Amino acid sequence: MVRPKVYITRKIQDEAVARLSVTCDVSMWNEENIPVPREVLAENIREMDGLLCLLTDTIDEAILTNATKLKVISNYAVGTNNIDTAAATKRGIIVTNTPDVLTEATADLTFALLMVTARRIVESSDHLRKGEWKTWSPLLLTGMDVYGSTMGIIGLGRIGGALAKRAAGFGMKILYHNRSRKTEAERNLGITYVELETLLKESDFVCIMTPYTPETHNLIGAAELSLMKPTAVLINTARGGIVNEEALYHALKNRTIWAAGLDVFEKEPISASHKLLELPNVVMLPHIGSASINTRNKMAEIAVENMSRVLANQPPLYQVN
Ligand code: DGY
Repeated sequence: MVRPKVYITRKIQDEAVARLSVTCDVSMWNEENIPVPREVLAENIREMDGLLCLLTDTIDEAILTNATKLKVISNYAVGTNNIDTAAATKRGIIVTNTPDVLTEATADLTFALLMVTARRIVESSDHLRKGEWKTWSPLLLTGMDVYGSTMGIIGLGRIGGALAKRAAGFGMKILYHNRSRKTEAERNLGITYVELETLLKESDFVCIMTPYTPETHNLIGAAELSLMKPTAVLINTARGGIVNEEALYHALKNRTIWAAGLDVFEKEPISASHKLLELPNVVMLPHIGSASINTRNKMAEIAVENMSRVLANQPPLYQVN
């Protein structure tokens, strides 16, 4: 029997590669910190039945033109905005992703970023390390209260819901805005649906949890930021393109909002000379929302399972198209 051929676009967990190798001929771009060059991917995809890729790989029409044998694209992520799903569907290629297993880790990181930003933890730690700490002082490095404040969640999917549970533990009033109202979640989580404008005006912490689509591109720009309280904090752990970074820079610099916590950016990776890094009131992380060891292992397992199932003519665990 002919074994299916699979290409993996980055070094992933050995156990996951071993599992896939039981039934498939696997080749892999064996680098941890360098994405596969586009021309290498374009060449390799010609012979492949399956592609296991990351959010750093743009799988567009041009790449798929070469993919004459491809049956499945297994994305090692929940977000699939790196893949032209319509182009894949047109070619009969199944696209899969890895939701659920990363929900709690991403909600944890979102809440951690919120707390770190609210209480100026990075700035405070830098202050101490630089030897600037002279004495306890009533006004030194004061931040915003988290307990009892108002959280506004934009996009109430799995991760938005998990974030709401954490916020409830901190006695927060929770507002949400979503394409459609979720009345059961409103009852279960004690959250209130509001229009985006109300959410922006009333929240102390505006948390972006929505998928990145053409509709959510630059959803938060200058006009939206101008509605936020001068004491409010913006948190984004979804996708960078949802926020207009230029507008955010000006809002933070002019202190029309108080701070931001960002795990994602319009163009990743950002360089150390990125404009936002000039500002003290922003905490920035290198897209580590799901980066717990356990979660990343589970994501690899699901990505492999999705791939194996499709190549064995079975439905995958999570199909996107
Ligand atoms: C995703 O899965 O989409 C995250 O951004 C990375 O885990």
